[in-house]
Amino acid sequence: MNTKTALVTGVTGQDGSYLAELLLGLDYKVVGLYRRSSTQNTHRISHYLHHKNFTLTELDLTDPSGVLSTIEHYRPDELYNLGAQSHVGTSFSQPTTTFEIDAVGVINVLEAIRHYSPKTKFYQAGTSEMFGRNYTIKNGEKYQDENTPMLPQSPYGVAKLASYHMVQIYRQAYGLYCCCGILFNHESPRRGENFVTRKITKYIANLLKDKTIDKLKLGNISSYRDWGHAQDYVKAMYLMLQNDQPKDYVIATGETHSVQDFLDKAFKSVQLDYNNHVEIDSTLFRPAEVDYLKGDPSLAKLELKWNPEYSFNDLVKNMVDSDCANA
Ligand code: NAP
Ligand code: GDD
Repeated sequence: MNTKTALVTGVTGQDGSYLAELLLGLDYKVVGLYRRSSTQNTHRISHYLHHKNFTLTELDLTDPSGVLSTIEHYRPDELYNLGAQSHVGTSFSQPTTTFEIDAVGVINVLEAIRHYSPKTKFYQAGTSEMFGRNYTIKNGEKYQDENTPMLPQSPYGVAKLASYHMVQIYRQAYGLYCCCGILFNHESPRRGENFVTRKITKYIANLLKDKTIDKLKLGNISSYRDWGHAQDYVKAMYLMLQNDQPKDYVIATGETHSVQDFLDKAFKSVQLDYNNHVEIDSTLFRPAEVDYLKGDPSLAKLELKWNPEYSFNDLVKNMVDSDCANA
């Protein structure tokens, strides 16, 4: 029997919901931390809200005293910090809030661990957005790996890079077991509806129900992303905290596709041509863009024995099928 306790911030989000489910399956006691809201936002975790090993507790990462008292109270074996303002576009309109949550919030957690629970293993949700416009060239191919210098292009990327550096400092200076997953884009039927993949698959489901709906408005569809499935990626988070030593890893599929490729594949899967249904809206373009992401996950595959199960085709199909079934 597993007697470990894990704290998961951002448990109401896409990744938090899958990770808590994974840990419950491994017999962990899971404390899911969520931010209070005036409306119910637990739809992604409703199927295990009453699980005997699951507790839901309020915590806002920007509240240092709440973070301290929660960590002092639970002194967990593992803490996965997935809570964030995670929308890159929104970070341009809310840079201060984004920095407060995504950078200062992480310092709040690290300080609490240092003072009250130094044996806690800490996972920080880092991102390929930290690479921004930068890449490395190997065998004529552009990609990003653990050694690619970071050059963020958004307030979100800067905040996440600040927290990435903080994790290195707390690891080196205080010897804490803390690490950062550098995760490339990952999606699922639980993806927030304002991220481009889910916006597309949700639109397709609505269109199939009502052919008269307005066209789908999108911004830049020329950017490239390395898209994987969130269920595969939460396994990598777990594996990072089972390592002998804390270490940062790139988690990616190693493939890249444009937003246009995703659109084309998703519409074709229901025998439609996206050109007849999509309108480019210049107001949805970002002030600065990350044009190309393609991760090299070799190190994680070698050292963590991490192997994703979903292909790009599986991912698109899973999201379209799920939205159509629930429309
Ligand atoms: P998500 O669906 O947007 O979930 C984010 C979670 O953080 C939500 O539960 C949200 O709560 C919570 N949160 C926001 N502000 C908070 C605060 N002040 N205090 C406590 N919780 C707060 O994001 P995700 O896709 O699951 O991503 C999980 C983490 O991985 C994030 O840190 C994200 O930046 C990072 N990441 C994601 C990807 C990806 O492609 N999905 C890739 C790389 C890194 P509400 O429901 O109240 O908003
Ligand atoms: N959201 C959105 N909405 N994006 C659009 C739209 C639109 O209507 N139209 C075009 N795009 C383009 C964006 O400009 C971007 O180039 C691409 O689609 C992907 O946008 P998102 O799905 O919002 O994801 P992201 O890559 O910006 O950020 C996600 O991945 C990061 C990892 O690289 C988020 O999950 C971040 O939290 C994560 O860190």
